[in-house]
Amino acid sequence: MADSGNLGHWEDLAAFHGTGNDSYYDIPALVSGEMSLRTVEADAVAIATRGLGVDGMAIAHVQSHIGIDSIHLARLGARVTAFDFSPTALERLRELAGLCGVEVRTVLADSQEIASPAFAEFHGTFDVVYATIGVVSWIADLGAWMRGAAALLKPGGRLVLLELHPLVCMPETVDPLVMDFPYANTGLRHYEGTGSYANPEADLTWSIDQFGWSIGETVNTAIDAGLSIVRLIEHVESPFDPRGDILVQEEDGMFRLRIGTGADGAPAEPLPVLFTLVAERPAVT
Ligand SMILES: C[S@@+](CC[C@H](N)C(=O)[O-])C[C@H]1O[C@@H](n2cnc3c(N)ncnc32)[C@H](O)[C@@H]1O
Repeated sequence: MADSGNLGHWEDLAAFHGTGNDSYYDIPALVSGEMSLRTVEADAVAIATRGLGVDGMAIAHVQSHIGIDSIHLARLGARVTAFDFSPTALERLRELAGLCGVEVRTVLADSQEIASPAFAEFHGTFDVVYATIGVVSWIADLGAWMRGAAALLKPGGRLVLLELHPLVCMPETVDPLVMDFPYANTGLRHYEGTGSYANPEADLTWSIDQFGWSIGETVNTAIDAGLSIVRLIEHVESPFDPRGDILVQEEDGMFRLRIGTGADGAPAEPLPVLFTLVAERPAVT
């Protein structure tokens, strides 16, 4: 079960994000139709849909938050169902979908419980399960999360998990270099702080529990849930800042994380910042 501290934190963020106090969630641009999926998300979806696009496809957006990508996917013609454990996030999503003139079905669910009979009506009904950026670190039982994703998929359906790379989750600060988040799972880690990834200066205080999950653990839980790996891509740059603090936007507009220096004082090689996992529920199991 989700920790009530985490739920309270996400209720606060869902009420705060996209209310004009952060530049990450640009609601006027969303409503005017200026925004769509960013390149990394669009590339992941292209792999998941075998290049066919999402038009007409049934998509489960797991941990949808206030549903920015649910709305983008619906605009591209997908039939989207958004799952999240935050009632405020789903309420904001319904409001935003109304402003954008699209339909998105919402389901209040802890993602670790989606495989249970309580959600049987959704099992085996989706072409794509889509989950992005800031999903797995909230999950105590990643095996249960993956079994939920697998249960939602039709045979032949695909999971898209586009996530912060575990390496970029490790540093608290780069200068001085403080590594306070585990690369792999070491159980629950408790943190307290202020602000939000969308606005580090936001007047929000939090007390949360998080979980490290390595690339290997993530891939292995997908395999254990009966999924076949289609692609695993590690990205050393991002078109946006997924953390809001330690990445640097460089001259080409991309965000990177470089620690230390390269040879002879040259810039350090960039570390991985995101990964894309696409995995498929086999047509015959
Ligand atoms: C970082 S947000 C996802 C961001 C989203 N991709 C976006 O760009 O807006 C994480 C979401 O996970 C949800 N969440 C956290 N733990 C959860 C859980 N155990 N079950 C379901 N949803 C959860 C939060 O409510 C939040 O909406």
